[in-house]
Amino acid sequence: MHWQLHNVDALPWLLDQSAGEFDALVTDPPYSSGGLHTKDRVKDKANDKYLSSPNLYPEFSGENRDQYSYLQWSTLWLSQACRTLREGAPVLLFSDWRQLPVMTSAMQAAGFTWRGIVAWDKTEASRPQKGRFRQQAEFVIWGSKGAWHDADGPTQPGVLRFAVTAGGPKLHTTGKPLPLMDALVKVCPSGTILDPFAGSGTTGMAALRSGRRFVGCEREEAYYKIACERLAAA
Ligand SMILES: C[S@@+](CC[C@H](N)C(=O)[O-])C[C@H]1O[C@@H](n2cnc3c(N)ncnc32)[C@H](O)[C@@H]1O
Repeated sequence: MHWQLHNVDALPWLLDQSAGEFDALVTDPPYSSGGLHTKDRVKDKANDKYLSSPNLYPEFSGENRDQYSYLQWSTLWLSQACRTLREGAPVLLFSDWRQLPVMTSAMQAAGFTWRGIVAWDKTEASRPQKGRFRQQAEFVIWGSKGAWHDADGPTQPGVLRFAVTAGGPKLHTTGKPLPLMDALVKVCPSGTILDPFAGSGTTGMAALRSGRRFVGCEREEAYYKIACERLAAA
């Protein structure tokens, strides 16, 4: 089997996995971000926070942690994910501008070496803000478990420019474009990519399209089903 997806909570599942099993961690966890004020930021459901038309996609939860608990929770699951990776495995973590400091701390506290940031330029199709800067970028925090695995491969771009809908319509509230994920998985060794927060399965699609294997978790049944259909078709 080239892929496995589990309809479970990632943290207890990670606790059950053997050490050194996976070759890379590429994931887009819930950001617990969005909204300027506490009353908006503590909303548990994502669609209200991130969409102007909240009924377009199935809901997902886990979006209501404050900074302190987000840091602790992220450190917990990242520590477990780190344990399940081989030495030298790359780690690529999505984040937004607000959670960048917390996520870079969590990944280092969990045992990874932080090596840089790739900017995802979402193009001028992203959210305008009158009189201010367009909210145009999200970030991929990257690093490794120990030494970087590849000292001779081609240099990959540090800024990736893709509209959210590049490669096909979005299937998830915060789904990532497939061409973006195709570009990111290029730094992963052959073997199995782990994504504990699979959503609609875009990381898995990129893994399979590049000849790698994929193991993931997705807690919401609606997204689990969407991801399984996509992965089976791939
Ligand atoms: C940002 S989305 C991932 C979107 C994905 N990159 C895509 O392109 O479709 C994060 C996903 O993590 C899931 N999630 C949140 N907390 C979880 C948990 N504790 N265990 C497993 N999945 C979880 C949510 O249901 C959501 O679908």
